[in-house]
Amino acid sequence: MASATPATDFTDGEAAAMDVALAAALQGPRGANPLVGATILSPEGTSLFTGHHRGAGTPHAEADAIAQAQEAGADLSGCTMLVTLEPCNHVGRTGPCTEAIIDAGITSVVYAVDDPHDPAAGGARTLRAAGVQVRSGLAAEKALELNRRWFAAVAALRPFVTLHIAQTLDSRIAAEDGTSQWISSPESLADNHAIRRRIDAILVGTETVMVDNPRLSAREPDGTPSSAQPVRAVMGLRGIPANAAIRGDDGLAHHLPTREPKEALAALYEAGTRHVMVEGGSRILSAFLTAGLVDELIVYLAPTLLGSGTSALNGLGIGTLADAQRWEWDAADGGSVRSLGADLRLHLQPQHPLSSDPRNAAEPAQKGS
Ligand SMILES: NC(=O)c1ccc[n+]([C@@H]2O[C@H](COP(=O)([O-])OP(=O)(O)OC[C@H]3O[C@@H](n4cnc5c(N)ncnc54)[C@H](OP(=O)(O)O)[C@@H]3O)[C@@H](O)[C@H]2O)c1
Repeated sequence: MASATPATDFTDGEAAAMDVALAAALQGPRGANPLVGATILSPEGTSLFTGHHRGAGTPHAEADAIAQAQEAGADLSGCTMLVTLEPCNHVGRTGPCTEAIIDAGITSVVYAVDDPHDPAAGGARTLRAAGVQVRSGLAAEKALELNRRWFAAVAALRPFVTLHIAQTLDSRIAAEDGTSQWISSPESLADNHAIRRRIDAILVGTETVMVDNPRLSAREPDGTPSSAQPVRAVMGLRGIPANAAIRGDDGLAHHLPTREPKEALAALYEAGTRHVMVEGGSRILSAFLTAGLVDELIVYLAPTLLGSGTSALNGLGIGTLADAQRWEWDAADGGSVRSLGADLRLHLQPQHPLSSDPRNAAEPAQKGS
């Protein structure tokens, strides 16, 4: 990282194109990889093609924009690429973006922020060595904010954490007799399985295994197993029962003998997990939220009332409103609120610590207001 000195000599056209790239980035899903967008500008300053990243294992934003240009038969020699993150330099599940940029004949690259991820870093250096002009720092603040929690997870050497709650209108995740299948609509369940296909691991507490005996596999709409399956992790001091469905026969079940979310994440990270979805139940959800270890919150809200049963959360150690956890709507990946069948899918991220939300003001509001 820190592979380029931030520049200040950006044109209005480049600034506008970077805004287009930032908006495109928001179309992707959050997770193991950051949200990234890229726009190609013609030598005359016209925005030609815009790409974005669609999640781990899919082409990066730069490659996406270049592929569109190739499909259209466009000649990119002499063009400038605006990209929200330093182009990667490594061969992961996709080829290095630096190579795609050089091969396409792009002669100038402007990126917003350095890539903090060691194996990917050094892209700017490689581009310069190949004669590409490289500048950085344009819209850096917006680009950092775009992936604020992803940068935090990378710095902490832990997986990105998505928390999933499937609940009734009155925040119940199971009825009084323990039944919970299914609170969500078929469309919400299908969405959940689509997420399972792109995460590295799914995590539940021992009690959920005991009560629900879930498989926790990723399945296609027709019920058949998907080709990509996450690790199935169970967190708790008791072992996984010998006959638990979660064990499966593919070696992907993993017992984490701890009640500490940080320890569970460290063990998963050590095993290669970069994106985990915490699915429940109540005590596990609460433990991760209390520890401040949730980067993304997805709530499937069913138009159903139970009036009793298991609450989604069983306490966050908050005694007064001033200590409430504040969340903000997340426009990424299809938006903050979507209809899924009869349900609403709510998408949130932790509020920025310096948020100007008036509810965070130090002075309490007038009584009764
Ligand atoms: N609707 C949904 O989205 C959804 C999803 C999942 C589950 N559920 C429902 O949630 C219910 C289960 O919730 P639950 O709260 O009873 O159990 P849970 O959160 O699934 O598991 C609790 C168990 O996990 C272990 N554990 C690990 N870390 C812990 C920590 N920090 N704090 C407390 N326990 C920890 C403990 O077991 P050890 O003794 O082994 O340490 C504890 O008994 C079930 O009825 C299930 O149907 C609903």
